[in-house]
Formats: sequence, C-alpha cells, structure tokens
Amino acid sequence: MNLILLGAPGAGKGTQAVQIAEKYSVPHISTGDIFRKNIKEQTPLGIKAKSYIDRGQLVPDEVVVEIVKDRLSWEDCKNGYLLDGFPRTIAQAEALDKITEVGTVINIAVDLQKLMQRLTGRRVCADCGESYHISSFFGSKCSKCGGKVIQRDDDKEETVKSRLDVYVKQTAPLIEYYEKRGKLVSVDGMQSIPEVFAQICAELK
Ligand code: AP5
Ligand code: MG
Ligand code: ZN
Repeated sequence: MNLILLGAPGAGKGTQAVQIAEKYSVPHISTGDIFRKNIKEQTPLGIKAKSYIDRGQLVPDEVVVEIVKDRLSWEDCKNGYLLDGFPRTIAQAEALDKITEVGTVINIAVDLQKLMQRLTGRRVCADCGESYHISSFFGSKCSKCGGKVIQRDDDKEETVKSRLDVYVKQTAPLIEYYEKRGKLVSVDGMQSIPEVFAQICAELK
C-alpha cells in the first residue's frame, strides 16, 4: 500500500497518519517530523531546515527529495508506506514518480478559515509528537507518554499565515496533478477525527 496524505497545514494529516499507519501496518513518514527531529538534535540538516521552517517557507526540493528517497529505500517500506507532508510541490511529485509507484493519494479537504484556528490552538508532545488542541486539552503533560506538551514554533499566527499562503501557491496544484493521474480520493476534513478516519478507511477498501 503506497499512500500519500495530501492537505493544507492543519488539515489533520498527522492525526490521521498515526491511525492509518497502525491499521494498515505501513511506516508513517512525515518530512516535517524528520526535520523537527534534526532541529532538536542540531544536525547540519536541522540547522538548514530551521531557517526555512521558522519563516513558514518550504525547505528546498532537492534537500527534501534526497531524504525521502533514502527513507523509502529502507527495509520497512518493502510492503508500502504512508507519506505525510510529501510531496508538496509539483517538482517533488515528479521526483517521487521516478523513485516509486504511487498508489492512492488521500486529500484531506478543510476550509482555509478553519485551519488558522486549528494550528494556533494546536499543542504537541515534545517527546512523542502526539497532537492536542487547546479546545479539549487543558493539562501540560502528554497523556500517552507523560512528555511535556508545547506549542510548535511555526504555529504562531504570523508563521501560520505564510504556511497557508505557501500551501495555496505551491501545494494545492498537486490535487489536480494526482486527479489527472486517477490517483486522488478526497475526504471531508471538516468532520470529527473518527469520522475522517472512517471515510479514509472506506476509500481504501
Ligand atoms: P509539517 O510538519 O508537514 O507541517 P504542515 O504540513 O504544515 O502540517 P501540520 O503538521 O501543521 O498539520 P497536519 O495536517 O499534520 O495537522 P494535525 O494532524 O497536526 O511541515 C512543517 C514544515 O516543514 C513546513 O512548513 C516546511 O517548512 C517543512 N516541510 C515539511 N515537508 C516538506 C516538504 N515536502 N517540502 C518542503 N518543506 C517541507 O492537526 C492540526 C490540529 O488540528 C491539531 O491540534 C489536531 O488535534 C486538530 N485536528 C486534526 N483533525 C481534526 C478534526 N477532524 N477536527 C478537529 N480538530 C482536528
Ligand atoms: Mg503534521
Ligand atoms: Zn507524548
């Protein structure tokens, strides 16, 4: 099962990816998570990526493509994978087509106005990455691992604005790219988290 999760920042890609990866036993590959891990460990890649991420801009295509190419060559991708946050530009999609045969592309559709609210209210576990929202999370510790729950640096309002702008200009054209190739299914990301998951599972049957 070679899957891609497409959607704007805050559409719920990460939230759904965890459940999809578990149900279908495929590795969850999030380029954003890879960058955040490298930033935390202050690797050369992390230092480079941080300068883009902090401005809400995309990390250059050639950098991301190399990372994904390497990751997809790992043993655990033999029976499939779930890409979350990649590809994000037409150039990345074209590069991916040279590396692997893409199966289904799941587009999580959410109104742009809703995304600002979701992102500025999001909190994440600094240790395991679990995602929460201030509307239903009132503590300071992760309920999964006990780690500290924090706000992502790029979830401040100004940065969110440029991320949404970048999405519209550079990533949204991928919807048509995959539609034309007959690979796209769209789910309504305005529903509750379990409802979105149920719709995804129905599409994957
Ligand atoms: P990345 O980490 O991929 O961030 P993103 O795409 O901006 O997406 P998010 O992780 O913010 O949102 P999500 O869709 O995962 O939503 P979530 O499930 O958390 O990338 C970060 C940065 O890295 C980029 O800006 C870029 O600089 C760089 N980068 C990464 N990949 C790259 C690439 N390929 N090329 C170049 N640069 C790259 O949910 C959001 C919130 O909403 C949470 O609080 C959640 O609890 C809540 N929520 C989720 N679903 C629902 C629902 N159905 N109802 C109500 N609330 C919900
Ligand atoms: Mg995410
Ligand atoms: Zn945690």
